Amino acid sequence: MKLLASILTAWASVQVGMTMTVAFQPQPQPIRKRSSSSSSSSSQLHLKTYDASAVSGCKQVTVIGGTGFVGSKVCELLVAQGVDVTSVSKSGSYKSSVNDSSDDESWTSKVTWNAADLLTADESTIDAAIGSPNAIISCLGVIGNDSTILKQGNGDANCAAFASAAKSNKLNRAIYVSVSSEVVACQDSWLPEFFKGYFDGKAMAEACALDAVDGDSTKVCLVKPSFIYGGDKFGLIPPRVTSDYGSFIEELLSLGVFNFLADITPGLIKVALRAPSSVEAVAGACVDAALGDSDSSGKTLEGCVEINEASGQPPATGLTDAVEWVKEKTGEVVEFTKEEVIPKVLAKVEEIQKASKK
Ligand SMILES: NC(=O)c1ccc[n+]([C@@H]2O[C@H](COP(=O)([O-])OP(=O)(O)OC[C@H]3O[C@@H](n4cnc5c(N)ncnc54)[C@H](OP(=O)(O)O)[C@@H]3O)[C@@H](O)[C@H]2O)c1
Repeated sequence: MKLLASILTAWASVQVGMTMTVAFQPQPQPIRKRSSSSSSSSSQLHLKTYDASAVSGCKQVTVIGGTGFVGSKVCELLVAQGVDVTSVSKSGSYKSSVNDSSDDESWTSKVTWNAADLLTADESTIDAAIGSPNAIISCLGVIGNDSTILKQGNGDANCAAFASAAKSNKLNRAIYVSVSSEVVACQDSWLPEFFKGYFDGKAMAEACALDAVDGDSTKVCLVKPSFIYGGDKFGLIPPRVTSDYGSFIEELLSLGVFNFLADITPGLIKVALRAPSSVEAVAGACVDAALGDSDSSGKTLEGCVEINEASGQPPATGLTDAVEWVKEKTGEVVEFTKEEVIPKVLAKVEEIQKASKK
């Protein structure tokens, strides 16, 4: 049981660290794939294809926070669909370290990278940076431990962006990457007081996305992941876990036993037991909401399963890959399936404990 508890504790710390500035350090080890070829996020990407000119007339998309972890993946996917992409962010410049270092970055030359601090820039500067898009996708988020800054960064900054995009008479879709309702539900008794600013800001941004399309909820999509993984680096602030490790956890926590446990447990334990989403899936769901037919717009996509479905991403395979890798490396017949991993590990731990007591 201790092993299971420590796995869950490590993962819980990652999930909680998502919005904590001072957190305990998770020390996950990357799960190696069974082949030596690295699994870059783009090689795992399964993209839906859209005829952007035919679907919803969407030719121009502005991505708020396009330099960020999620936003840069959204920009990359939009470029692949042949639409005009403008990114607006505080710095304005793409940082190649934000996602996979192995990625082909030629797409970055096809994005217009604009700089505007949405909290301090004047209205005309913001309008010029945002332009007149058919769709706006906001991936702007701020973390920290000051409630006021959290509310302004997540709320006011996003609202300034949505209000500016609304001035374009062409705006047909407003998409916002928010946060899972199960994380929001933790604010009352599971998280420090200052988190209130973060959640208030998120709620403000959701309302402003709706306002931007004149209150027409069929034109809004709220994408609500719990934790987002991806890329090839681990990090603490902001918390990041790699594509390989995240895929392992996603597949593990998608097993029925964990769904059951998540359903019956409260607060942050529930959140820690929910499968996380890959950055490709979150970005893909945003692109689907902007360019697809009305399937994803007018929707709230809660958690990994709904986000994967909207994006067309297949289920994660990290756990299956790890089991295969173990089988291959041990060179012996290890007869277990992924569903049997937990009982097998627990039985082994029990066996070791018994042996050590003798
Ligand atoms: N990562 C997760 O695990 C997770 C989980 C659940 C929900 N979310 C939500 O998903 C969204 C994307 O998260 P992320 O991890 O991609 O965030 P991120 O990497 O930190 O990116 C944040 C982006 O927002 C921009 N930004 C911040 N303040 C700004 C301002 N005042 N004016 C203009 N731009 C500003 C940043 O611009 P610069 O780069 O120029 O500074 C950056 O492009 C956020 O809404 C977040 O709350 C994330």
